[in-house]
Amino acid sequence: MSELADPSPRDLPPAVDGAVGHVAPDADTAAGEHDASMERIVELCKRRGLIFPSSEIYGGLRGAWDFGPLGVALKDNVKAAWKRSMVQLRDDVVPLDASILMHPRVWEASGHVAGFTDPLVECRSCNQRFRADHLEPNAAGEVVCPNCSGREFTEPKAFNLMFRTFVGPTEDTSSLVWMRPETAQGMFVDFAHVQLTSRQKVPFGIAQVGKSFRNEITPRNFIFRVREFEQMEMEFFVRPGTDEQWHDYWIAQRWQWYVDLGMRPGNLRIRDHAKQELSHYSKATVDVEYRFPFAWSELEGIANRTDFDLRQHSEFSGKDLSYYDAERDERYLPYVIEPAAGVDRTMLAFLVDAYREEQAPTAKGGTDKRVVLRLHHALAPVKVAVLPLSRNAALVPTARRLNDLLKPRFDTQYDDAGAIGRRYRRQDEVGTPFCVTVDFQTVESDDAVTVRDRDTMTQERVGLDRVPDYLSERLRLSSR
Ligand code: GAP
Repeated sequence: MSELADPSPRDLPPAVDGAVGHVAPDADTAAGEHDASMERIVELCKRRGLIFPSSEIYGGLRGAWDFGPLGVALKDNVKAAWKRSMVQLRDDVVPLDASILMHPRVWEASGHVAGFTDPLVECRSCNQRFRADHLEPNAAGEVVCPNCSGREFTEPKAFNLMFRTFVGPTEDTSSLVWMRPETAQGMFVDFAHVQLTSRQKVPFGIAQVGKSFRNEITPRNFIFRVREFEQMEMEFFVRPGTDEQWHDYWIAQRWQWYVDLGMRPGNLRIRDHAKQELSHYSKATVDVEYRFPFAWSELEGIANRTDFDLRQHSEFSGKDLSYYDAERDERYLPYVIEPAAGVDRTMLAFLVDAYREEQAPTAKGGTDKRVVLRLHHALAPVKVAVLPLSRNAALVPTARRLNDLLKPRFDTQYDDAGAIGRRYRRQDEVGTPFCVTVDFQTVESDDAVTVRDRDTMTQERVGLDRVPDYLSERLRLSSR
């Protein structure tokens, strides 16, 4: 424990059930075995309009992706699940939406202007640039250019990852501003204002979801490493001396969030950072890693940022950002525990984890491959598909009425195009938990519909008037 021992119970986190196991900093990075390869995920996302290259008609832009209708819904659901767990269900975390453009001194104080760099090398043959630490030696121990197989590189140069732009009409150093590379700094510079106006007492947190920008040298692996992305970050301010307990607490909380949303625990792990890997602000950091088809890789970092940021901003701004703890009659700069996750990476991990290729029975008595996204219901972009058996005029009014009835309660999709089996497959591919089919029996005899379950493919006959309540009972729309 650091300084100021003797914590009061109010300072400390609630007990955590069972410690989450950690792996060593140098744990192996072997890729995971999934039904999904990255190629299949990229292809599915493009074909179903979830995610596709930005400005594709002009040839695209590296490291930039667009999210189509179903992609927006999935992304919104990931963010909503995070906000629910981190803010809505808690009394000690409040939200913030700080602006992307901030005073340039913020990034001097935070250390980003001086130190937010990656080592850049250039191939002497083809002049392509690479991140030196992303170039793996081959079996003979040689580093070879992935573009032209050249073997000569320039010496590594520190390349600052922040995008720069200018405010106002002149483009000089006095109008230079940075596109934020993390949402975190907004929460540090607004700490005193938010604390005062929300009347929170330490320990408490400020949470934010928003865009960040990094001029990555080598964006790669689809939406895993991109230049424009969203982060879900929370800065939890604690009394120095209680920081290590809170760090453990947040590691356990964040682990549970992924598991509660259906991620397979075998594909998740907590990896400690080695000393030399720690960011300049961190006393201890772990990464929540996911076993992607390309390697174990970071989904989220959970850092003990100490009082580094509040101290720096106090010094650079000349404003006192210390906190007066009335209960202890003590003034201190709070320490900060920061769970910092990426929306895009988390979304990719949920997609990979949910993707299955299975054999399913066909109408003709054979079997056929089906692709299904076994997404947690809370994440599924569409919750219910309403499918008239055909476009027959006798079925359409009832199917439309049912769709209108369900729409206010659930995200629905009305689909009447193609054979019913093909439509089931289309919904399986995007993870729709339930399909409701209106057939001739519905309108001619029993006033009931067939509800098909995505995972078991079982079908149940449900009275039309009972459908909304039936679906409400069966859909798990939150993770807890
Ligand atoms: N405030 C601390 C911070 O920003 P980070 O580990 O650099 O820490 C947090 O970023 C998370 O943001 C990462 O775990 C990752 O999920 C996401 N992230 C960072 N850079 C990214 C990139 N270039 N593309 C997509 N996601 C990224």
